[in-house]
This record gives sequence, structure tokens and C-alpha cells, in this order.
Amino acid sequence: MVGPSGAGKSTLIRLLNGTLFPTSGEVRVLGQRLDKLSAGALRKVQSRIGTIYQQFHLIDNLQVVHNINAGHLAHWSFSRSLISLIRPMDIQTAFNALEQVGIPEKLYERTDRLSGGQQQRVAIARVLVQNPEAILADEPISNLDPGLSKEIMDLLLDLSYRSGKTLISSLHAIEFAKSHYERIIGLRKGRILFDSSTDFITESMINSLYQGRN
Ligand SMILES: Nc1ncnc2c1ncn2[C@@H]1O[C@H](COP(=O)(O)OP(=O)(O)OP(=O)(O)O)[C@@H](O)[C@H]1O
Ligand SMILES: [Mg+2]
Repeated sequence: MVGPSGAGKSTLIRLLNGTLFPTSGEVRVLGQRLDKLSAGALRKVQSRIGTIYQQFHLIDNLQVVHNINAGHLAHWSFSRSLISLIRPMDIQTAFNALEQVGIPEKLYERTDRLSGGQQQRVAIARVLVQNPEAILADEPISNLDPGLSKEIMDLLLDLSYRSGKTLISSLHAIEFAKSHYERIIGLRKGRILFDSSTDFITESMINSLYQGRN
């Protein structure tokens, strides 16, 4: 999803992961209307959807292993989650996930000592541990420099291809949308301006998204 600030990209992502409900219209996710579900059923669907945020949403003063293990929270019991905060459980799974995102040596590092790119890798490792069917990434690279942005985009794409997970992102960087995604949806003022295979996206379609903004 691309589009100017305020177009509704983050709002749409929140509708898809059930942290926001529509006041009109219908949203169906994995075949279900989230606003019709009980709290328990909603949590079940939410465990099948992983979200990665621009601000990483990690707990700064915890070791990396705990932040990665938070990916289990959707599946673990409350008591198991609590115990794991004191003595981390399933270290092997956390390590494997961290290895997949390329920084296995950081397992016991305090999260706030990591660079932005490394923190985003931890957030991705957490989603890998959650093992959802779909990954939503809300501007996953807008806090990163251009070199790191490409690395994180490559990583997200590679992981979603390898594991067969759907990947939906909102992006400001049109060039990455074109180079890494097969479908691009242009949003403007809460409406879909275009929804097209990347091959058919033209310069004028992109311009129409941003024209008359100021
Ligand atoms: N619950 C809500 N109900 C109605 N409007 C909302 C709600 N939440 C956000 N909005 C409005 O929707 C608009 C879109 O906001 P959103 O954050 O989704 O934009 P965005 O495309 O993600 O922008 P950016 O690129 O700056 O992140 C904003 O004007 C916001 O005030
Ligand atoms: Mg946003």
C-alpha cells in the first residue's frame, strides 16, 4: 500500500489485525469478520496475523531473547509466559529465528543497545516465532537508512517467499514497492485510487496519488 500521509495505510493495517474495528462497512480477515468475534475467537485469529511496525514496538530494557519470545504470547498460557520472563523458555526457537534474520550473536544483548536495523530484525524474528499465516508491515523501513532499508526489504521478501506467508506492507518508498512487491494499491484520502499488478504501474498513477497535496 502506498499513498500520502493520512491516506489511511496504518488505519487499514489496524483494521486487518483487529486492533481497530470499522464504524461502517465490513472487514474480512482470513475469512472472518473480526468485529463479530468473541474476545477468545478474536485472539485466535490475531495469533495467525503478525504485525511489524515502523517503531519496532520492542521492550527496550529486555534482552533480545525475551522480545523474540513475545512472539509465543499468542500461543502460550499466561503462566508459561510469566515464567519465561524470569527464565527464557524455548531458547532454541528464539536462536533459530535470530539466525534467520542474520544476528544470532545478539540473543542476550539488551534490546536498546542494538541499532535500528538490528531492532527491526528482532521484530521480524518475533513474528517468525509467532509463525502467522500473514505478515502486516506498517512502514517497516521508514526509520532506517537506504542501505539498511534494502536489507530489511530483502529479508522480509525472502522470509515470506520461503515460508509461503502473505506479506502486506505500507511503504512511502515507491521504488521499494516496485522492486519488492507484485501488487501495489494506491490509497488517497481513505480511498483506493488504483490496485494493480506492479508491472502496470505508471509514473502518472504515482503522480496522481500525490498531486494537489499542499
Ligand atoms: N479510528 C479512526 N476513525 C476515524 N478516522 C481515523 C481513525 N484512526 C485514524 N483516523 C484518521 O484516518 C486518517 C488516516 O490515518 P493513517 O494513520 O491511517 O494514515 P497513513 O496513511 O498511515 O499516514 P502516514 O503515511 O502518515 O503513516 C487520519 O486522518 C486519521 O486521523
Ligand atoms: Mg501510517
